[in-house]
Amino acid sequence: MTLATSLFAPIEEDLQVLTQNLKQLVGARHPILFAAAEHLFEAGGKRVRPAIVLSISRATMPDREITPRHRRLAEITEMIHTASLVHDDVVDESQVRRGLPTVHSNFGNRIAVLAGDFLFAQSSWYLANLDSLEVVKLLSEVIKDFAEGEIRQSLSQFDADLSIDAYLDKSYYKTASLIANSSKAAGILSGVSDDIAQDLYAYGRHLGLAFQIVDDILDYTSSTETLGKPAFADLRSGNLTAPVLYALEEQPSLETLIAREFTEAGDLEKAIAIIEESRGIERSRELATQQAQLAVTKLDGLPKCSHRRMLTGLADYVLNRLY
Ligand code: IPE
Ligand code: IPE
Ligand code: MG
Ligand code: MG
Repeated sequence: MTLATSLFAPIEEDLQVLTQNLKQLVGARHPILFAAAEHLFEAGGKRVRPAIVLSISRATMPDREITPRHRRLAEITEMIHTASLVHDDVVDESQVRRGLPTVHSNFGNRIAVLAGDFLFAQSSWYLANLDSLEVVKLLSEVIKDFAEGEIRQSLSQFDADLSIDAYLDKSYYKTASLIANSSKAAGILSGVSDDIAQDLYAYGRHLGLAFQIVDDILDYTSSTETLGKPAFADLRSGNLTAPVLYALEEQPSLETLIAREFTEAGDLEKAIAIIEESRGIERSRELATQQAQLAVTKLDGLPKCSHRRMLTGLADYVLNRLY
């Protein structure tokens, strides 16, 4: 049993239902888009986002019983996430995802862009059908934020002046917004108070930031094989994340390599060596730990139950994850 499966035990059945529903929701009307999307849902992502939505849903409902609308929200959340990955892999020119060839490497960029759009559109349709204007507002903002995050990232490629704050802002738009807003939306479907709704948002925001920082660390410390996606991809493409931003504070020579975009032989290897020798990775871990600890403090208003424990455990899982 992997860490994620034992951690997710309280909602394991919910996740099985989710997987079945996701494939149905995509629909079989457009065979290529269907194939592209199904391929991803079959491939088994970690399902972290729907696990959060389902746990919050159960923790905030009387007798821990959830409604079909909570389930649908979890499905929509994973669908938006998957759509964003399809587009992200086009932008990042990434060949592997979830251990499989990416949609664009199988079907070409045109189909990948359309398949991503299709998934975003499908998720909007199911979102509207939840009949909660508040939830529609929260989740449609996420789709806008994702585009904003990707645009900010593209505009700051190879920009060694990027601050840690700007990096965290970008990471909010790209990653944490979805976790924050879907966490809050789950509470809203349960009819929680405004205070609890705000706490759920803050939980998702901090956890999402920790998650992205750890993902950015793994890009340096893990192999393509374990990641199921290419390693060192961020640095190579000029996406300067926490480890390199901290390393830059210690080692200004890194700036020269970044400024010439690693065009000379051995540049990338030199940069990696400098980052590995610096305290960049260590300080990034500290930053992620801070965020994960903040996330946990936001759960105080939830009843003590296995689902709340899972949400607390997720903070450790995020910090200790290997892929
Ligand atoms: C990948 O998310 C994108 C990031 C926000 C870092 P996940 O690591 O949750 O990807 P899957 O869903 O498990 O494939
Ligand atoms: C996360 O950023 C992108 C999304 C939120 C879709 P990354 O570019 O770091 O994600 P990976 O590393 O490709 O999974
Ligand atoms: Mg990427
Ligand atoms: Mg990454």
